[in-house]
Amino acid sequence: MGIAHEKLEKNIGLLAVLVAVAISLGGLAEIVPLMFQAEAIKPLPGVTPYPALQLAGRDVYTREGCYGCHSQMVRTLRFETERYGHYSMAGESVYDRPFQWGSKRTGPDLARVGGRYSDDWHRVHLTDPRAVVPESNMPAFPWLAETALDGAQVTAHMRALQRLGDPYSDEDIRQAADAVSGKTELDAVVAYLQGLGKHAPRGN
Ligand code: HEC
Repeated sequence: MGIAHEKLEKNIGLLAVLVAVAISLGGLAEIVPLMFQAEAIKPLPGVTPYPALQLAGRDVYTREGCYGCHSQMVRTLRFETERYGHYSMAGESVYDRPFQWGSKRTGPDLARVGGRYSDDWHRVHLTDPRAVVPESNMPAFPWLAETALDGAQVTAHMRALQRLGDPYSDEDIRQAADAVSGKTELDAVVAYLQGLGKHAPRGN
């Protein structure tokens, strides 16, 4: 071991500073290029801000902690793309605040689940998972079907996102309350799930 190396390892203060510098450089090398890469912040073709019902569903998804068991990011690895479809692109989650990529997978990744099942399947599955997947250990969410959506809340949420720069038109926002009126939280989550991955590139 060199003298310099030995000195460094015995000087805890200096070592701590240099470790912090090394980690920061690593972080910057990953983050800074993304800030200048136009396609990383540009929506993919067809990707728009969430329509009112899906936005409400996304709120329920985060409130219920679905992300605690489900990621929404298909990695670029062969076994992932074979199972789920095209790997996730940054341009798919431009309007996700906060994004739902996650890393915990007690259940399957959901980034490509849109259209994989019928609305009815989702309704039964969310209300009583074991009714359609007997070995499932996913919790049941029976209250979603009994809870009406709050139009005022969805409207306020869309207005806030518009202020943050999401391209909602005033018309979109005016129609939000109507779009969710008479719908339940279950309708909203199902609409949200069915929209996931809809604008992903095709193939693997
Ligand atoms: C405690 C962990 C856990 C939580 C929390 C959880 N899930 Fe799941 N989920 C699972 C497991 C395990 C499976 C696989 C078995 C099954 O299909 O039920 C699954 C399956 C699914 C599937 C089917 C995916 C596929 O490709 O077959 C959907 C859709 C889903 N969950 C949606 C949700 C939603 C929406 C929420 C929140 C309201 C949620 N999950 C909360 C564990 C969880």
